[in-house]
Amino acid sequence: MSDLHLSDSPGLRDETLEAMDAVELLGWALERFRPRIALASSFGAEDVVLIDLLMELDPRARVFTLDTGRLHSETYALAQALRDRYGLAIDVYFPRTEALEAMVRAHGVNLFYASVENRKLCCGVRKVEPLDRALEGLDAWITGLRREQAVTRGRVRKVEIDADHGGILKLNPLADWSWDRVWGYIRDHAVPYNALHDAGFPSIGCAPCTRAVRPGEDLRAGRWWWEQDAAAKECGLHPVR
Ligand code: ADX
Ligand code: SF4
Repeated sequence: MSDLHLSDSPGLRDETLEAMDAVELLGWALERFRPRIALASSFGAEDVVLIDLLMELDPRARVFTLDTGRLHSETYALAQALRDRYGLAIDVYFPRTEALEAMVRAHGVNLFYASVENRKLCCGVRKVEPLDRALEGLDAWITGLRREQAVTRGRVRKVEIDADHGGILKLNPLADWSWDRVWGYIRDHAVPYNALHDAGFPSIGCAPCTRAVRPGEDLRAGRWWWEQDAAAKECGLHPVR
């Protein structure tokens, strides 16, 4: 993500956008970019907050998910519950069949445990390439990134220019939200959430690559838990600069 040089974009000022709360920012972005704007959802706690906020602002707002084929059954149950609650037609992107078949033939179905390189290959085929397709034709995408989630995310801005996707905008309306604030919102608005959160999973990705965390461990400790380097724990959806 390149730092946003808003002086290059008349009408956009980083300080102004940073000062907006999540509803203001989403409203500003919908006004400006609809229908070429969509929320990327993995149905984590942040994403269900964003879905609730978006549906309030615009019941036809677009939401997409990257279905890696390795998600937990609880995640699919939540996708269905959100569809039922909001009448939400989620755009689902799957991996390319040929790339997936070739990867599994060459490296095995659980290749990610063998090396970081294999894990990144799998994330590339199952998430990063489908994301490229999901973002085609969009001017902006919305994510649930928060600064306190990880060492890799401390510098996230609410609005960034996504140099990896043709310079479209990447909006992170919850960048300055705390974990408690996310859960306060979920409770106050009775938003459906992933049952795995109640089983000790603060951050939820693919089933073979996510586990519950122990008390005191950080929020993403259960993601790719066998890897030691916290600074490398990104799958490529959100490259660290
Ligand atoms: S990840 O890169 O490590 O998987 P994380 O689970 O923290 O990311 O999610 C951060 C944000 O990335 C989510 O709030 C969501 O906007 C987006 N995201 C992550 N995984 C997916 C997915 N499978 N489909 C769509 N968006 C996703
Ligand atoms: Fe593959 Fe695990 Fe990445 Fe999911 S999180 S795409 S299963 S390596």
